[in-house]
Amino acid sequence: MSLEKPLEGKVGIVTGVANKRSIAFGIAKAWHEAGAQLIFNYQGERLKDGVIKLVQETFGADTPVCDLDVTSDESIAHFFEFVRTKTDHVDMMLHAIAFAPKMEGCLEGHFADIPRDAFNLSLQVSSYSLIALSRAVAPLMVNGGSIMAMTYYASQKVVPNYNLMAVSKAALETCAKYLAFDLGRREKPIRVNCISAGPVQTLAARGVSGFTGMFKVYEERSPLQRSCTMEELGATATFLASDGSASLTGQVIYVDGGYEIVGM
Ligand SMILES: NC(=O)c1ccc[n+]([C@@H]2O[C@H](COP(=O)([O-])OP(=O)(O)OC[C@H]3O[C@@H](n4cnc5c(N)ncnc54)[C@H](O)[C@@H]3O)[C@@H](O)[C@H]2O)c1
Repeated sequence: MSLEKPLEGKVGIVTGVANKRSIAFGIAKAWHEAGAQLIFNYQGERLKDGVIKLVQETFGADTPVCDLDVTSDESIAHFFEFVRTKTDHVDMMLHAIAFAPKMEGCLEGHFADIPRDAFNLSLQVSSYSLIALSRAVAPLMVNGGSIMAMTYYASQKVVPNYNLMAVSKAALETCAKYLAFDLGRREKPIRVNCISAGPVQTLAARGVSGFTGMFKVYEERSPLQRSCTMEELGATATFLASDGSASLTGQVIYVDGGYEIVGM
């Protein structure tokens, strides 16, 4: 493993790029700089042109990009058929997908008002998708692999307004642990971890009521007096994808200026 290019020769799947502010895009840049070849998705026609343009201008005109909507088994199957036309193995996969509808109680207001359909949809997109994508990618991880999912601290303690997304993240983190136990026992082990990012200004984050005020809280309370940068998330994801983290699985790694350790 070269220290300069720790992911040289590795192939990665990056899910969750919507635009240049997406955490997935920041992590993809780090993986690319570390020497990896990447395959991307976009979610549906609305994002198609923008994501293809962004990804191919940044990572090369022949960078593979394919539609993937995690609510559909057909779409997942089609995406991995596409992946198989581009590579015979995958070494790492980033899950950076989350959604909660802007319905009563979901991302603001009373938690007790969350409707059943909204709950089911959010858990399906934000949490179950890790199971479905891990199952689909596992046969391609012929040399073992590293899967990582983006999560947030609201899974552990109440963060006002995170409501339904907090429940989805708690489920996501538990899915990651059980997947780590299951897939780690293969002859070629697959590791599964979560990166718990402090607040970052992105499209998804803006959906949470009062999100921008969170930066001030992190400045006041976290040991490092700030949240995190995209480059720091990229460096953590590169470490998790690299052989240097070979014994690390089932963990939630906080990249949040240390906010997680603070009691009050
Ligand atoms: N921004 C933050 O402050 C923050 C903090 C911690 C964790 N996260 C997590 O990071 C991840 C990435 O979010 P982001 O902040 O970069 O926002 P983003 O809006 O850029 O990314 C969210 C992605 O989810 C995708 N997505 C939603 N529904 C989908 C579906 N049905 N099928 C396929 N893809 C779907 C969107 O297309 C989009 O690319 C999310 O899991 C989010 O919860 C974000």
